[in-house]
Amino acid sequence: MTQSLTIRRPDDWHLHLRDGAMLAAVLPETARHFARALVMPNLVPPVVTTAQARAYRTRILAALPAGSAFRPLMTLYLTEDTDPADVARGAEQGLIHALKLYPAGATTNSASGVTDFDRIRPVLDRMAEIGLPLCVHGEVTDPDVDIFDREAVFIERILEPMRRATPGLRVVMEHVTTAEGVAYAKGGGPSLAATITAHHLVINRNHILAGGLHPHYYCLPVAKREEHRRALVAAATSGAARFFLGTDSAPHPDQAKLNPCGCAGCFTATNALSILADVFERENALQSLEAFASLNGAAFYGLEANAQTVTLTRRQPAWPRRIETGDGPLTVFDPGFALNWSVSN
Ligand code: NCD
Ligand code: ZN
Repeated sequence: MTQSLTIRRPDDWHLHLRDGAMLAAVLPETARHFARALVMPNLVPPVVTTAQARAYRTRILAALPAGSAFRPLMTLYLTEDTDPADVARGAEQGLIHALKLYPAGATTNSASGVTDFDRIRPVLDRMAEIGLPLCVHGEVTDPDVDIFDREAVFIERILEPMRRATPGLRVVMEHVTTAEGVAYAKGGGPSLAATITAHHLVINRNHILAGGLHPHYYCLPVAKREEHRRALVAAATSGAARFFLGTDSAPHPDQAKLNPCGCAGCFTATNALSILADVFERENALQSLEAFASLNGAAFYGLEANAQTVTLTRRQPAWPRRIETGDGPLTVFDPGFALNWSVSN
């Protein structure tokens, strides 16, 4: 039985760090284990220009614990007014690593998202030209589409036509949650990849809804049936290059989660790697963990894998149930089973 495993230091290819007091509280949780993270731009107001991304990056660096080598990789929030020249400049300067597409109203702070997909065509064409990836929140917002079907319908109605209209556009399907999403990502050629979260590998929709309502398991895209979770586990543990880790760790203070209209988001930064180790071990796939968490994402984004390593040791990790923040207590995602792997640097 493997007792310890040393892998290249992981990167998180989809992370919400927020700003201000929340940023200060959650950043050390990610910086402890991850070398880099692709930082989502859905602040209020959103990060839409290169200048705003640069200022946000400076705030993140200022909030880092002393001595941390963590590097935030910045994204821009794609709107119908995004200037292709600003995007290209930001990419050329090495500041902007992706644009984020939220269909308007799809999730937390997505009011500035895209409604008319024809209006973003010039930006998408420019991105295809320079090879800058588009990260896609793949859910339709049509109120007539059942929330459990929104990912599959998005692929058919939006993603496939968009990719056809902009050949060469590099796309990351963010936080896929369905067998349909996995199948589409697999068949999409080298310009298509998909991130998978730690929590979608361990919960299905029963965890949210059966035996009482569990707000800390509510996130978007919402967890689906068990057969979909199984498809995600198979994809993640396969080691296939087009699947990699994006935790979508999305902190909301308890007062915003435990509310008649509770916010979507699971905060997993603290224990995501321990959770992954258990998931991969159950599938007899610990040997693929490094590809999923540390290699595949960097390769897709055209970056070197990290030179530093982390070591996972078979020992139950201590993790806090709650973290105190300036905005109130924040509950850490509970996988619902005892974790068996501790992470050390
Ligand atoms: C995210 C958030 O809170 O910013 N919430 C979530 O449930 N994942 C937004 C998002 O990525 O959809
Ligand atoms: Zn997210």
